[in-house]
Amino acid sequence: MDKEQLIEEFTEVYGGGGEIRCFFAPGRVNLIGEHTDYNGGHVFPCALTIGTYGVIRRRDDDKLRFYSMNFQEVGMLESDLSHLEPAKEAVWSDYPKGVVWAFGEKGHPIPTGFDLLIYGNIPAGSGLSSSASLEVLTGLMLKEIYGFEGVSMVDVALIGQYSENNYNGMNCGIMDQFASAMGKKDHAIFLDTATLRYEYAPVRLDDAKIVITNSKVKHSLVDSKYNERREQCEEALKDLQKVADIAHIKSLGELDRETFEKYELSVKDPVCRMRARHAVCEDQRTIEAVQALKGGDLKRFGRLMNASHVSLRDDYEVSCEEIDILVDLAWEISGVLGARITGGGFGGCTVAIVQNDAVDRYQDVIGRAYRERVGHSAEFYVVDIGDGAYAF
Ligand code: GLA
Repeated sequence: MDKEQLIEEFTEVYGGGGEIRCFFAPGRVNLIGEHTDYNGGHVFPCALTIGTYGVIRRRDDDKLRFYSMNFQEVGMLESDLSHLEPAKEAVWSDYPKGVVWAFGEKGHPIPTGFDLLIYGNIPAGSGLSSSASLEVLTGLMLKEIYGFEGVSMVDVALIGQYSENNYNGMNCGIMDQFASAMGKKDHAIFLDTATLRYEYAPVRLDDAKIVITNSKVKHSLVDSKYNERREQCEEALKDLQKVADIAHIKSLGELDRETFEKYELSVKDPVCRMRARHAVCEDQRTIEAVQALKGGDLKRFGRLMNASHVSLRDDYEVSCEEIDILVDLAWEISGVLGARITGGGFGGCTVAIVQNDAVDRYQDVIGRAYRERVGHSAEFYVVDIGDGAYAF
């Protein structure tokens, strides 16, 4: 979608004149480090080149008007600065509205209304963070058009997460918003979610590509199951904090595998114990995977991705039949270095590292077998790693 086209759409919906500005915030794919971000562990996501575009203009009154090119049938949605509560029935504008609300909660009240037009090209329900990209997009737009210079891009990510947790009711971690706000072309972000210290690691795949496969399924109750996983980890942490030797820990991410194994039986509930095992081991795998990538050992990186999938499937139980079919098929194909579920789970996408000469075969073989076994087609995206949110 180019700038002229977006501005044309905007003026058609809202009329011309005034200062009209364009912004973009990407979706993300996580290479490894899943369900570690609300456990004080590490993640390793990268921003994509698909995402959400926004065209915005300040108003003189306090009206907020929203229009999405993706939901044209919904038409224009209106609200105002003194009515920032979520809509009775969920609508897409609850995401940007939530961010307007969150800016106020964080001490940056929005002084005037605005007209906003949105266009997104992240496949719906794919788990590639369309909501985080919309939150980060809104945060960046508010920061820029109202001149909140003290609000950094890390703050924009945090405000987006705060809004999603407290306004939209999904207790997500910081990974998605951070990747969308802070991404860097051709790099993944090695982020310690306990401290928000991060490092950009070049993703030099030479003769391989990142291939995302969309299962085109999204099972219901995703948000509530996600929140339940989070609670199970919190319960496990509480039990572990009762052990004198590790009473000081503030998150599961502070434990290494050995220490966890020594004390794991103090987690009374066997399900919570499995969840905690995933969180601890996944964190360790993420640290190892980044070392492997830095050392150019893509094979090891791929094996760690595979192990991540097994752990998400068996200990964390966030995979599903369709995703397991995709991953099992991928593991059978020569030239696939690693494949796993990515994102929150219960459907969505897998991510694989595939050698260049196997990319066509990967799509043919998996495409055919998946259709036969599941009854609908998967979609494939051979992706590039893009920059975090920007104005253009
Ligand atoms: C969702 C959440 C993230 C993260 C992942 C799982 O995408 O929004 O914060 O927890 O699931 O790794």
